[in-house]
Amino acid sequence: MKALYFEHFGDNSVLQFGVLDNPEVKANEILVKTKYIGLNFADIYRRRGNYHIEEHDPYINGYEGFGTVVKLGKSSSGLALGDKVLFVDVPFANAELVTVPTDKVIKLPTKLNEETAAAIGLQGLTADFLAHDLAKNKKNDNVFIQGISGGVGQILLQMLVADGVKVYGATSSEKKQKLALEQGATAVYLRTDNGTGKLNNKFETVFDGVGKTLEQSIKLTKHKGKVIFFGMAGGDPAKVDMVKLLAHSKSIMTGDLWDYLTSQDERQTRFNRLAAYFVDGKIKINKPRVFPLAEGKKAYDLLESGQSNGKILMQCD
Ligand SMILES: NC(=O)c1ccc[n+]([C@@H]2O[C@H](COP(=O)([O-])OP(=O)(O)OC[C@H]3O[C@@H](n4cnc5c(N)ncnc54)[C@H](OP(=O)(O)O)[C@@H]3O)[C@@H](O)[C@H]2O)c1
Repeated sequence: MKALYFEHFGDNSVLQFGVLDNPEVKANEILVKTKYIGLNFADIYRRRGNYHIEEHDPYINGYEGFGTVVKLGKSSSGLALGDKVLFVDVPFANAELVTVPTDKVIKLPTKLNEETAAAIGLQGLTADFLAHDLAKNKKNDNVFIQGISGGVGQILLQMLVADGVKVYGATSSEKKQKLALEQGATAVYLRTDNGTGKLNNKFETVFDGVGKTLEQSIKLTKHKGKVIFFGMAGGDPAKVDMVKLLAHSKSIMTGDLWDYLTSQDERQTRFNRLAAYFVDGKIKINKPRVFPLAEGKKAYDLLESGQSNGKILMQCD
């Protein structure tokens, strides 16, 4: 099979494209021929060598993909050859063929087109658990999103607006600022202009997947409010002074999507809930940028540059 792989951790120059052995299909697995492979920030952390990655020689990155079932394991049930499926937490996804345990399969809901399904899986399920398991905001709550026009940011913003929440945010360019306003944000600040100082202690919830902005996020949070820290796309956060937090009754919550995807039913129910926002027209995202898997390095370069404003997919021919 064709695959994007690497032998050593490092920058994008370690990525190689070539032919590797096909994976073996165990009894409780299916084999998926990928059509779209989702790229995520965690793939950058893994390639750098500072995040958990499954052992494999050579390393194959990626946990998210969409494709067609081409082989069934002996004890797999409920699936047929030719079914369209996606997955968001299965290793070795930067490849033409991926073995997927049956409990990690998500079936494509009717009415959702393939490219959208492929583009919203991991980022959309992340937005969903951040909003509905962690934040649990009420109508008219004020919330703030750091990196509001990233992949997770765009979906989270529109999901919260659809849920009746008032959303503010910060981003890095005027183009992304305009996009977030069009997607329903109440106000969007450029990270460089320090305009958020007047908003300190205003927000019930501040969502922070940028990381180095954590200190600012704590300031923006109101007393008895919470920061939801979920990633460090912009660099690791500074150490937090818990005593200062205590004095203002501010909290920090964290979470990893994979701890919320604990069964096949959990995965499908959550994905159907997410898909409904798109099918009902409540969330619209930019068309994903699609790169051939053979040019996967370019896809990684774009994600790491911080210039992308939506999903990046890789495609097998
Ligand atoms: N906890 C979980 O389960 C979970 C699951 C999925 C993703 N995540 C995390 O969620 C965050 C967003 O992921 P994503 O897939 O939405 O990525 P993304 O599309 O690349 O968005 C990341 C955003 O962070 C901002 N950013 C600020 N400084 C940056 C820098 N130096 N380099 C790159 N980006 C920078 C950019 O937004 P602006 O230009 O608008 O500032 C960028 O659009 C990441 O930290 C990721 O690890 C967490």
